[in-house]
Formats: sequence, structure tokens, C-alpha cells
Amino acid sequence: SEIINAAGKQKVAQQIAAKVKDGDVLGVGSGSTVYMALLAIADRIKTEKLNVLAIPTSLEISMFCTKLGIPLTTLFEHKPDWLFDGADEVDPNNSLIKGRGGAMFKEKLLIASSAVNYIIVDDSKIVDKIGTNFPIPIEVFPQALLHVEAELQKLGANSIVIRPAKGKDGPIISENNNVVLDCRFDDVPLTLEKDIKGITGVIESGLFIGYNLEILVASNN
Ligand code: A5P
Repeated sequence: SEIINAAGKQKVAQQIAAKVKDGDVLGVGSGSTVYMALLAIADRIKTEKLNVLAIPTSLEISMFCTKLGIPLTTLFEHKPDWLFDGADEVDPNNSLIKGRGGAMFKEKLLIASSAVNYIIVDDSKIVDKIGTNFPIPIEVFPQALLHVEAELQKLGANSIVIRPAKGKDGPIISENNNVVLDCRFDDVPLTLEKDIKGITGVIESGLFIGYNLEILVASNN
């Protein structure tokens, strides 16, 4: 399905690249759709000699920007003019699940800091109800794990899995030195994002409800 979905991701990547203007400071999300958009943007930067700065949301994307010759900056120095990012699920209210790549804390910080946010997805990401295919990722300060798990159960979590690392034993460690819980809930009420964030020890979740987003969807056919 990754190969089938690549066509749709490619289409929205081109739409994003077409929006770039000389002098833009871009917030850059993470994931494979963002990766494709960056390739298309780097092409325009080269051929049209555009001055563009990128604020990245992950080490992966920082390294990729550098490789493509797109200069980096930070939220200390600049506010993004606009931002693009992918998502794992989008529902009819524009609620999102993000964080398959574990970068949801910086992704949410950047979306909160940017006035214009494009979410680029192929149509396999569209769901009737958030939480259909993906669990909600929650970044947690390691010493707070037991406390957070107990509180998440009170909020109705029916499955909580500590995300395992690949290529190493034990849990995945986020870029902020925390662990990630993948959590399923029977129901996702509009208050759930704030309720999760209200637990001491939770850094951030990959649930996005009520953000100012423009969703660009590409069909895979
Ligand atoms: C990264 O942490 C995520 O939020 C991604 O934006 C999301 O998982 C979408 O990834 P793809 O574009 O690779 O599908």
C-alpha cells in the first residue's frame, strides 16, 4: 500500500512546492509526505534561486533539509510564515492523529506558532472517526510512566503500549529523551486532547482537535 499511496503523496507535495515564495520562512513537519514536498521545494529553490528558510520538527527532517541545501533556522529566531506537515488520520472536523514518526511535540509547537498550516495527505488518511486505524501517540517523561498510564485508563484508554525501539532493546527514546505510549480509546470526545495534556508527566500527544488547518487531500487514483 506504501507504493500505491506514493502517487497521492507526490501530488500534494507538488501543490505545496507551488506555494513557496521568495523570502518565506517555512515550518516543516515530518514524515514521508513532507519528505516528498521538500524534494519539490529544493528543485524550485535551485532553478529560481529562491531564499527560503526552514524550521524543522525532527532530526530526520533537519538532516534532509541540510542535504538538499535548504538553510535551517529555529523558533527562537523566526516565526514561520506558513507550515506544511503530514498526518496519520484526518476526520470530517479536521481533527488529526499525528506522530507515527514520534515528532508530535515539535510538530504541535510549530503548528501552534504558525498562522497558516497546510496538512498534506493522500486519501488513505481520511477517516469518519478519529482513532479508527491509528492509536494516539503520547510523549511521556519516563519517571511519570506509571502515573500517566493510570490516569489514561481513567480517561477511557483500553490499550496502552510503550512504543518499542527499532534496532535496540527497550522503548523508543524521543528527541526530547522521553518515551512514547500508543494509546487506543473507545471514544475520542472533543475534550480528550486537553484531558490528556492535563496529566502531569505528559509532554504532548499526537491528537489535534480544533487547530487552524487547511487540509490538502490527493486521491490515489
Ligand atoms: C510524524 O511524527 C508524523 O506526524 C507524520 O506527519 C505522519 O506520521 C505522516 O507521515 P507520512 O507522511 O509518512 O504518512
